[in-house]
Amino acid sequence: MPIISLIAAMSQNRAIGLNNALPWTPIPADWDNLKEVTKGKKMIMGRKSYDNPHRIWSEFGNFVITRQVDYIVDEGFEVVDSLEKAFEKCKNEDEVFVLGGEEIFRLALPFADKIYLTLVHETFEGDAFFPEFDETLFDIIEQKDFKVGENTPYTITIFTYQRKPI
Ligand SMILES: NC(=O)c1ccc[n+]([C@@H]2O[C@H](COP(=O)([O-])OP(=O)(O)OC[C@H]3O[C@@H](n4cnc5c(N)ncnc54)[C@H](OP(=O)(O)O)[C@@H]3O)[C@@H](O)[C@H]2O)c1
Repeated sequence: MPIISLIAAMSQNRAIGLNNALPWTPIPADWDNLKEVTKGKKMIMGRKSYDNPHRIWSEFGNFVITRQVDYIVDEGFEVVDSLEKAFEKCKNEDEVFVLGGEEIFRLALPFADKIYLTLVHETFEGDAFFPEFDETLFDIIEQKDFKVGENTPYTITIFTYQRKPI
């Protein structure tokens, strides 16, 4: 099985989305980080995150999770009816990224080997949130701080969590 990595950005109150968009104005430093860490990897996303004008995707392959039968997706995407099916289709990869949103993060957290989590140090209104998880099960192996003006309109911290060996 590949390394299962989740990648997300959340506010102090754990908001990740509002009206099927990000709650904040673009954060180039976070976008650069996402592009760098996901380079060359396949991505897995929920149907709502796929069905978003600002969707994120990988040139190397993407899986869209939906319960709808006969759901049609664009070229470069493949429909699956469960997270486990997406993992199965990625079994020969070294690492695969789960992109969200909330419903899919909730399903994926028990499988997460790594979590790349950007904390936006502000409070935002949201209707989708990054689920609480047991942080004692993970080590923070990297932490990058960006102040306002350092390619970001907000102070942010990008954490990399790695699941502790059992
Ligand atoms: N800040 C971030 O890092 C970040 C990242 C990604 C997304 N977002 C935000 O998150 C929000 C979307 O999150 P969301 O939770 O509403 O939606 P989502 O997780 O993107 O997608 C939910 C959809 O996934 C499918 N699904 C869920 N559980 C399933 C299961 N067990 N089996 C099969 N299919 C399943 C269903 O699709 P069907 O209804 O088609 O059956 C469901 O409606 C947006 O606001 C987006 O902008 C933020």
